[in-house]
Amino acid sequence: ADKTLAESPPMGWNSWNTFYCDIDEELIKDAADAMVESGMMEAGYEYVCIDDCWMAPERDANGKLQPDPETFPNGISALTDYVHDKGLKFGIYESAGTTTCQGLPGSLGYEETDAQTFADWGVDLLKYDNCGDHYGLSAVERYTRMHNALEAVDRDIVLSICEWGDNDPWMWAPEVGGDLWRTTGDIKPLWSAQEDLWGNGIIDIIDQNEPLAEYAGPGRWNDPDMLVVGVDLPEYPNLTEAEDRTHFGMWAMMAAPLMAGNDIRNMSDGTRDILTNDEVIAIDQDPAGNQATRIQHIRGEDGLPRSVWAKTLANGDRAVGLLNRSDRRTTVTTSAQAVGLEAASCYVARDLWNGTDWQTAGLISASVPSHGLALYRVSSGSPDGTNPFATVS
Ligand code: GLA
Repeated sequence: ADKTLAESPPMGWNSWNTFYCDIDEELIKDAADAMVESGMMEAGYEYVCIDDCWMAPERDANGKLQPDPETFPNGISALTDYVHDKGLKFGIYESAGTTTCQGLPGSLGYEETDAQTFADWGVDLLKYDNCGDHYGLSAVERYTRMHNALEAVDRDIVLSICEWGDNDPWMWAPEVGGDLWRTTGDIKPLWSAQEDLWGNGIIDIIDQNEPLAEYAGPGRWNDPDMLVVGVDLPEYPNLTEAEDRTHFGMWAMMAAPLMAGNDIRNMSDGTRDILTNDEVIAIDQDPAGNQATRIQHIRGEDGLPRSVWAKTLANGDRAVGLLNRSDRRTTVTTSAQAVGLEAASCYVARDLWNGTDWQTAGLISASVPSHGLALYRVSSGSPDGTNPFATVS
């Protein structure tokens, strides 16, 4: 069996969601610096990833990929050295077709050459897209080819499959060595899809990723796309801070890879606080590797949709999310029993946004702002392990 390269969901930063093709080596080095200085590295972020547009429009005389000489004049090896010197890892992008999505040379037919090039450069993760001509080969065949090529080189390289969930990758990705696989089309900083704007909103993505919980586990992750927390794009309305929190909290509930996509060189304190929230990250990285399921979907008397999400954690606690999809503040309620906790005389619910504990006999309820997510870690017993309802003699 292949060894597991992503025991917990990979965490890092990727250039695409903010910078698209406007990338160069200074940006990537600055992002690596920012990863350390912002506290993200300490919080668990590890991979610094370049996406599409890093390469020159032609392969070299030996058929090897080469970086764009204007934007990456010192080459990729120098960049991976820089990133590795900080204790971080480096991710790169290619496509399982004749071209990348931006029309640059793809890896189909060059898998062995390119895998060797990536290994020589010190690459640690490959995001492998699905653009270009496929020469009639199935996704399974094309991703298997790259997996085999990566297996043959003397370096551990995480394979991040990016075919947008088109060929049910959750059914075959682990077998062909995929450590994570996209389950949806591209995310944009939207609450939900809009007719006049391209891309999925976070609610659309949650709905598409939700039925796939059973396929996630240690070393194999559903990837509902990279984060748009704090992403500021001129043509999009962008998410509010409450929506950013819902987005981050739900990705953690879904055991999703956490690849920040904002400009981490210049982020607000609010964005940084969300991205580096240790207790929310612990829900994402929980060693049991469970993806939360939606245990209640409620349309209240007012017709407003709310839902309750639960995730079983390795120590037996439950992470509980109370999601208000409506455009009004509303109360969302569940119980310790409904989220699967064993009967106990008392429970402690820890609010993961403000770090406060409250004790409850079983009711888990919150007034949740519009598009908000109340997020709790619920355990049996009081914070200091004593039962506050027991009689002290
Ligand atoms: C596809 C992927 C995106 C990004 C772009 C780059 O759309 O889904 O995440 O990598 O290609 O061109």
